[in-house]
Amino acid sequence: MKGLVLSGGKGSRLRPLTYTRAKQLVPVANKPVLFYGIEALAAADVRDIGIVVGDTHEEIRAAVGDGSRWNVTVTYIEQDAPRGLAHAVLISESFIGDEPFVMYLGDNLLNKGITPFVEEFVRTRPAAQILLTRVPDPQMFGVAELADGSVIRLVEKPKEPKSDLALVGVYMFGPEIFESARAIQPSGRNELEITDAIQNLIDRGCVVRPHLVEGWWKDTGKLDDMLEANRLILDTLDRRVDGSVDADSRVEGKVVIETGAEIIDSVVRGPVIIGANARIERAYVGPFTSIMNNVVVRASEIEHSIVLEDSVLSDLSNRVIDSLIGRNVRIMREPVKPSAYRFMLGDNSEVGIRW
Ligand code: G1P
Repeated sequence: MKGLVLSGGKGSRLRPLTYTRAKQLVPVANKPVLFYGIEALAAADVRDIGIVVGDTHEEIRAAVGDGSRWNVTVTYIEQDAPRGLAHAVLISESFIGDEPFVMYLGDNLLNKGITPFVEEFVRTRPAAQILLTRVPDPQMFGVAELADGSVIRLVEKPKEPKSDLALVGVYMFGPEIFESARAIQPSGRNELEITDAIQNLIDRGCVVRPHLVEGWWKDTGKLDDMLEANRLILDTLDRRVDGSVDADSRVEGKVVIETGAEIIDSVVRGPVIIGANARIERAYVGPFTSIMNNVVVRASEIEHSIVLEDSVLSDLSNRVIDSLIGRNVRIMREPVKPSAYRFMLGDNSEVGIRW
């Protein structure tokens, strides 16, 4: 059994962060989303993993390396442009050979992992097995229609969904999928859709088994989903304080404070993770916040947010909430007149002033 992790794509719904970073490397609870997927594959004993990469291949290679950290072997497969998930399958054919494989979208997170899903496939050995979950907004996903427990129809992002069963970004395939991926035409967004390729398997009379997700699933492609994934993962952490907390500070609940981090005259209320060498000074860090390495939060309050490496929040008069702040960002109050907002923001940035 091989693994195929898709880690290309433009990440347009997470701009401006994704101008300078692969969306699969944006961290959830201070760990790149992609690493959760690799861990899920390793836990299911899938050790020969191909990673399909695009424009951001250098950064992905630098972060993942050869996979030895997870005791897996990683082969990189380059996709020249985001031409769709079925296209990614086609360019991976020589890596996969005629083995069955599990395909994992690199921005998906599943809290219960994929082991029972993989085991069921091995036991029943259909041409494909898909993972489904009920969602309130099925028109945003591939949608499955079932009859008597079998998949009878799959439609990618239907305007009028026939069910609320969305395709989760983890799939299992036998080699039959290659013929189907070759048989389909590009969709309206000019991509070879894996949803269409699986529909082609059904049309050819191959067995496609559905499997319902146990626990939660998140596609972290958008800000709200990213924050929710962060919330769900932080809630699973065990308390660990390796950094320093001074006598004037309070650290409450599920909190991870990494080595070299300093909490000075502050309140940290979990679930929270504070990265190595971060400095929290005369500040409040509230529930569901991930602060990455070397961040400074000084005389400011923040909660339900993610702050990436080397950023500084200083002397802010209002609490920062529901935010995703990139690397090396500075948000500071400056004691100069006239009082005003002063911004230097990249393309597609978003500032919300709530009052
Ligand atoms: C892709 C698939 C869609 C699936 C979703 C899960 O959508 O095309 O069928 O439901 O992943 O994350 P995309 O994220 O490419 O819009």
